[in-house]
Amino acid sequence: MIEMMIWLASQVAVCFALVIISKVLYNIYLHPLRTYPGPKLWAATRLTWTHAIQSGQYHLKLHELHTRYGPVVRIAPDELSYITPEALKDIYGNRNIPKNDIWAGQEEKKHPISIVSTHEETHLRNRRALTGAFTEHAISEHVSALEDLVGLMITRFRENIASAEGKAVVDLVDWTNFLTFDISGLLSYGASFSSVSQGRAHPWVEISCSFGKGIALMASINFFAPLNRALKYAMPKAVMEKMEYHKQIAHERFLQRLAMGDRRGSQDYVGSIMAYNAEKGEVKIPEEEIEANMTLLIFAGSETTSTALAAVLTQLLQAPAALEKLEEEVRGAFESEEDINVGSVARLEYLGAVIQEGIRMGPPASIGMPRVTQKEEIVARQPVPRGTFISVNQYPAFRSQSNFTQPDSFIPERFLSDSPFDSDRLEAFEPFLMGRHKCIGQKLALTIMRLTLTRLVYAFDIRVVQAVPDFGKQNTYIFWEKKPLRVELKLKGGSSGVRT
Ligand code: HEM
Repeated sequence: MIEMMIWLASQVAVCFALVIISKVLYNIYLHPLRTYPGPKLWAATRLTWTHAIQSGQYHLKLHELHTRYGPVVRIAPDELSYITPEALKDIYGNRNIPKNDIWAGQEEKKHPISIVSTHEETHLRNRRALTGAFTEHAISEHVSALEDLVGLMITRFRENIASAEGKAVVDLVDWTNFLTFDISGLLSYGASFSSVSQGRAHPWVEISCSFGKGIALMASINFFAPLNRALKYAMPKAVMEKMEYHKQIAHERFLQRLAMGDRRGSQDYVGSIMAYNAEKGEVKIPEEEIEANMTLLIFAGSETTSTALAAVLTQLLQAPAALEKLEEEVRGAFESEEDINVGSVARLEYLGAVIQEGIRMGPPASIGMPRVTQKEEIVARQPVPRGTFISVNQYPAFRSQSNFTQPDSFIPERFLSDSPFDSDRLEAFEPFLMGRHKCIGQKLALTIMRLTLTRLVYAFDIRVVQAVPDFGKQNTYIFWEKKPLRVELKLKGGSSGVRT
């Protein structure tokens, strides 16, 4: 009997192995994507892709693959990665190519939906409801809150300098995170997290920032159903507790914001949705969806903007000529600190180029969330069969020599009208994406960045305490795992004392 069972088990194992081998051979030699360039190991199964995502080096591996194989690479049996401006238009400008729902997978089925829903109609309804919070007019309403919070950070730095006898050491990655989460808290829940005033992250913010690896794990494990169902049983108790705490605080804060009512005249995120519901005369966005949008917006708005600031500062502070040029522009443009505001920083041309170049070298959305073809489509003049995952990946696109001259050097001048690099393909640079899912917060993010950088450069002489590597060399788990950026701050020109 036992022998019989062993024999049966071995037969099952052999059959299983045969199925896998056949699938691998099919993927490599017969699959409709077989003619696309790329390494066989990536084309054979999803495992190599999964390993790359889990290693934190996915963006670097994609860069290596594009350097070796060209502008389009097959990176999984059913997935293609692109880096050209043509592909950007063909993929994101095509209404018939939706977002993939595997990355969000189970989550989207379980949780209330929001603006990032993969369901196009739900997305559109939520996007319309939120648009009011991101117009020029809405941003102008938030101006004094933004200026106050940035001003508070500068004041804290001055206090640090005064108490440390003329020079203070701070971690700018931490502080830009405090700042952007405080701004997001204010616009989502009507109250900041008080991180800037206290000089430390709120525990809720710390937990939010630690979710990256979990999201990357879910995105990859969802390709291996039904293994994904087992994930929640394998989740350590401490992680479950943290997630529960996170959910509970978000809910409490949301209720506090609701209790403030529609705050007439205020176009914060909740206010914008309430105004939309009122205008339509029916509840287009129910309360649970408003709440889901708030949890999403807090993170989407702050993690991205603080990463962009960290990328700009990391590269700028280690490029003396560019830093000097920016100091000249900023310090020459204003008589006093009081003249620096959201309106006046908008005209600084070199600052705009510095921000673009920093984002090019460290794009917050370093890898693209793939879209999926529903029928055969033409992308970059080649046919792509139905059911293919396709995306333009920003890190390899922005670091490719086929798009940018000296792609690993920080040269803001490339974004000026008299750029020294005629052959740069600036059309490949869409860090906020294009099409119907284009970032809704682009203007807000750029406003925050302009104001923060100008205030910092105007007030302080800044230098990195210890050389840090190129921003791109850090790990990404969908989001960047940012290392500290410790800098020494001295009051500009060596003056001393605390000004508020
Ligand atoms: C430098 C900062 C930022 C960058 C680089 C950035 C980048 C992006 C990108 C690439 C997308 C498209 C994702 C996709 O569909 O695959 C996106 C979408 C989105 N972003 Fe941003 N973002 C930034 C800041 C912000 C801010 C400040 C907010 C809000 C406060 C925001 C809210 C959103 C939302 C809600 C979406 C989804 C839009 C839709 O699907 O209609 N982002 N962002």
